[in-house]
Amino acid sequence: MARSRGRHRTLTSVAGSLALLVGTVLVGAGAPAQAQPPPTLRELAAAQGLHLGAAVAGPPTLADPTYREVLTREFSMGTSENDMKWGPIHPAPDTYAFANADAQAALLADNAMAMRGHNLAWHMQNPDWLTSGTWTRDEAIGLLEDHIDAVAGRYAGRIVEWDVVNEAVGLGDDPWPNPWSASIGYPDYLDVAFHRARLADPSAQLFYNDFGIELANPRADAVYDLVRGMVGRGVPIDGVGFQAHLSVDSCPTPTSCTDGLLTEMARYEALGLQVSITELDVAIPLPADADELARQADVYRQVVLACLWAPNCDTVVLWGVSDAHSWIPGFRPGWGAALLLDEQYQPKPAYDAVAALLADPPALPAPTTTVPASPTTVAPAAQVTPAFTG
Ligand code: XIL
Repeated sequence: MARSRGRHRTLTSVAGSLALLVGTVLVGAGAPAQAQPPPTLRELAAAQGLHLGAAVAGPPTLADPTYREVLTREFSMGTSENDMKWGPIHPAPDTYAFANADAQAALLADNAMAMRGHNLAWHMQNPDWLTSGTWTRDEAIGLLEDHIDAVAGRYAGRIVEWDVVNEAVGLGDDPWPNPWSASIGYPDYLDVAFHRARLADPSAQLFYNDFGIELANPRADAVYDLVRGMVGRGVPIDGVGFQAHLSVDSCPTPTSCTDGLLTEMARYEALGLQVSITELDVAIPLPADADELARQADVYRQVVLACLWAPNCDTVVLWGVSDAHSWIPGFRPGWGAALLLDEQYQPKPAYDAVAALLADPPALPAPTTTVPASPTTVAPAAQVTPAFTG
């Protein structure tokens, strides 16, 4: 069943659906028996109105023909994995280095793929000149606004979603220290960044992006409170990015992640906000065995299903094209194999699970109905437990 509600449902996705349809009709009409290649993830996702994306590497990987072929065949969206961050794109106070991000944007545009922008303010991968400087509040506001004008302005009209601020909430009670909280103040700097991003690229959807907020926990609540405060102040925010850096143990039951994600997504929907899954990967302790690959497949299935079912989610981005490009082994030594394709670009069980889900997604279970207790009823009326079983 194709969803028609996706914000980003585009000609690309319509074209994908038509291609599938034409393929089906030709086969059905008794065209010469010829093995049809299985539909790509991109085609299957398009038929569901879902944007399926990947983090895009810089050079030299970006120039590799196989990498480009797989990226553009399997995905309908891309995000610069690193090249739009402050350090790479703004290496000196008066110098911008746009070449890599330009090349990524061009590859995506040439292949009718959407682009997410990542990111305009964060505590990591900042240039030394920024982190070693001392700035008054007004100077810092000027720096942040000028950067947003330059970067969001350059790609204006070409970015469907911008991660305006990344990871502002700390692990305890304090905001995460960064140049902006220190000089402008928290949460003021978020308001400054979002207002300026709206001016610099009025057509982009503006997102707050963070990790570990997919499933209920105190930090997810802290992020929700921050975002609700922004909405209350009239800050132009359109959505929240759930990074979803998960592991093979993240979903203890076949429904726990879908249920948990839907709960977290629903409270943002109540604020009028979208949710996108922005950096999905599912790490496994290496070497990955068959049981772990099967459990990984189920984590992927549960996350994608939540996005298919949530009325305010139409985007799932993986943090890399294949296991050869994943940040996990570098970030979490001893872990890896976190994506859908292995290091030779071969589909893993997780790829097959996502393909099967997108080809034939289960219908969203009907809402729970509670029969009102009648005055004569002694026992309480039976309640149907919500079961988001796939
Ligand atoms: C990571 C990249 O994948 C690495 O290549 C880089 O060395 C560090 O950053 N959350 C984010 C992403 O928002 O920007 C991070 O990307 C992963 C965690």
